[in-house]
This record gives sequence, structure tokens and C-alpha cells, in this order.
Amino acid sequence: RQNERESLLIVLNFAKTFFQETLLTTDEGKSIGLSYFRERGFTNPTIEAFELGYTLDQWDALLQEGLRRGYNRDLLEKAGLILIKEAEAGGKQKVFDRFRGRVMFPIHNVSGRVIAFGARILKLDKNQPKYLNSPETSVYHKSQVLYGIFQAKQAIRQEDVCYLTEGYTDVISLHQAGIKNVVASSGTSLTTEQIRLIARFTPNVTILYDGDAAGIKAALRGLDMVLEEGLNLRLLLLPNGEDPDSYVHKVGADAFKEYIRKNSQDFIDFKASQWLNEAGDNPLKRAEGISDVCASITRIPDLLKRQTLSQRVAQVFHVSEQSVISEINRLLRKQQ
Ligand code: GTP
Ligand code: MN
Ligand code: MN
Ligand code: MN
Ligand code: MN
Repeated sequence: RQNERESLLIVLNFAKTFFQETLLTTDEGKSIGLSYFRERGFTNPTIEAFELGYTLDQWDALLQEGLRRGYNRDLLEKAGLILIKEAEAGGKQKVFDRFRGRVMFPIHNVSGRVIAFGARILKLDKNQPKYLNSPETSVYHKSQVLYGIFQAKQAIRQEDVCYLTEGYTDVISLHQAGIKNVVASSGTSLTTEQIRLIARFTPNVTILYDGDAAGIKAALRGLDMVLEEGLNLRLLLLPNGEDPDSYVHKVGADAFKEYIRKNSQDFIDFKASQWLNEAGDNPLKRAEGISDVCASITRIPDLLKRQTLSQRVAQVFHVSEQSVISEINRLLRKQQ
């Protein structure tokens, strides 16, 4: 219902403001939350642009303030802000804030309304997740959301390319460095809905995932899905152990841009270099690599693009264009 949706957005906005005030005006917020953001190099305008906040390390600070302001428990729960644990035998029902003692990253929809939160623990602890996110609610469907899209959309149009990263802090640090056409899939594997959201602003995507095995795996998983939606795809591997956030802090904005310019590859080169690395001059492995790249090409809806890309595959793997085309046709027949 339209009414419930609007009520949820209002209570989520209240929570966002409360978390911002907690960060900027309470002793605990300043000494713990704000110092944490400072250590990560976030400036005041950045904290403001992303509406970052902090939640006190208490059971029900938000719940109490919410009730005082006239938001009822049911609404706070539906918004994913509090948890209600039913009474066990002889005990009492427990009601408490979902987010406690964490720095808060509001998640905005395309029009800038807050629909959910990501919440980071300050000190890593193996008994607790590093990030805690809002549950799915009637206004938050995580498969349809890209973190940072509201702050990035204008720049995505202007630059005519969208950088896709893994995490909240990657978006924020690149934005602060002046690279504003950046969004994150925030830990979930990329979905078709997220790709269509990007497609509203540009047909060009560059994946900037973390330079570790998990990042490469995630990039390879997302690749065919981007191609299927008819978008042009490039990929960039960061140096091992770096993510866009750590790397832009290390080398600075200009060197980061230069790194993208020099090292981003189209998906054919990206896949080919993964395969050629592994295959060396093992002919069977090379054949497997060619077939794998051809399989990605079959995902592309546009016939002309497929033909041009076939030539590129032939060059990269040093085989005839005819053999690439017949492999693509074989795979297409198999899919029917
Ligand atoms: P920092 O350590 O703050 O720099 O985070 P990061 O963004 O570099 O984290 P990482 O590369 O480990 O993970 C990428 C993204 O996955 C994060 O931004 C989160 O959105 C998500 N993520 C990471 N850890 C968790 C977790 O424990 N739980 C959930 N739900 N999501 C996570
Ligand atoms: Mn859903
Ligand atoms: Mn990672
Ligand atoms: Mn990371
Ligand atoms: Mn990081």
C-alpha cells in the first residue's frame, strides 16, 4: 500500500537523521564513530553527502527516541530498525535496536530516499559480521538496489560510464577523490535488475572488484549477465590485496584514474588473460578458453557486435576467425 510505503520512508528518514545527530553531537558518536571515519580519511562534506551516522552501543536508543516521537513499534519493526524476540517460557518479550555500536551507511533509492542501512562494526570480531544490513522490507529489495546510485547518477550520465565496485567504502572514497560515477553491489552477487538500473543512465560498465580471488570470481560471475543486457563491459583488476578504497587512498585520485585508463580490459582480454595464464601452451586448455570466451559472446543480443568480437577472439588466441565463428554457432545451436 502506498500509505505504508510512505510511512516506512518517513520512519527510515527519522532514523537516518537520528544516526547523523548521534555521530555529530554525542560524546560517544564523536569519540568513536567520527574518529573512525577520520581514520578512514572521510572528510565532512563526504560524511554529509552520504549521510553517514553512528548508533550508540546501547540496547534501545533508537526505539526510545522513536516512541517518544510517535512512531509505533510495529512501524519500526516493519522498517527493519528494531527486533522483537518473543518471550520464552517464563520470560519477557524483548524489544531492541537492530543496529548498535556501529557506523551507519544509509542506502538510498534512485530518488534519494533512505530505504535501508548498512552498518559496520568498528573493530573486526570473528563472532560478529563485519557489516550488518537491513532485512528485506516492503521498501527494500536488495536485489534491485545499487549503493550510491543517487549520489552517482548525474556523473554516470556525464561520464557515460558506470564503475561497479563491491563495497560501501569503495563508492565513498572514489566519490571523495572526484570519481563520482561509482556504485556498489554491496556484497550480493550482481543481479539483472541492478544492471538494468545502470542501463537507465549509460550503456557502459566497468567492473572494479577487489584484487583478490573472491573479486575475480565475482567479476567472472557477473560478466555474462552484463553482456546479456546488451551493455558494453570492461573490467579492471586491482593489485592483489587492494580494493578501490584502499588503492585510491594509497596512490591518489590522478594515479587511480591513470591506473583505470591503462589497465582496464574489455571482457575478451580479461577472460583471455585469465585463461592464457592458466593454459600456457597446453592446447586443450587453450581450446577450453576459446570456447569459454565464445560462450560469453553468445550472450550478447546484438548480432553485429557478436561478429566484430569474433574477430577479436581470433586475434587474441591466434586462431582463424572461421573457427571462432563455428564455435559460436555450435554453442548457439546447443542453447536452442
Ligand atoms: P571495509 O573493510 O570497511 O573496507 O569494507 P569493504 O567494503 O572493503 O568489505 P569487503 O571487501 O570485505 O566486502 C565488500 C562488501 O560486501 C561490503 O561493503 C559489504 O557490503 C559486504 N559485506 C562484507 N562483509 C559482510 C558481512 O559480514 N555481512 C554482510 N551482510 N555483508 C558484508
Ligand atoms: Mn524482495
Ligand atoms: Mn574483498
Ligand atoms: Mn573490499
Ligand atoms: Mn575495503
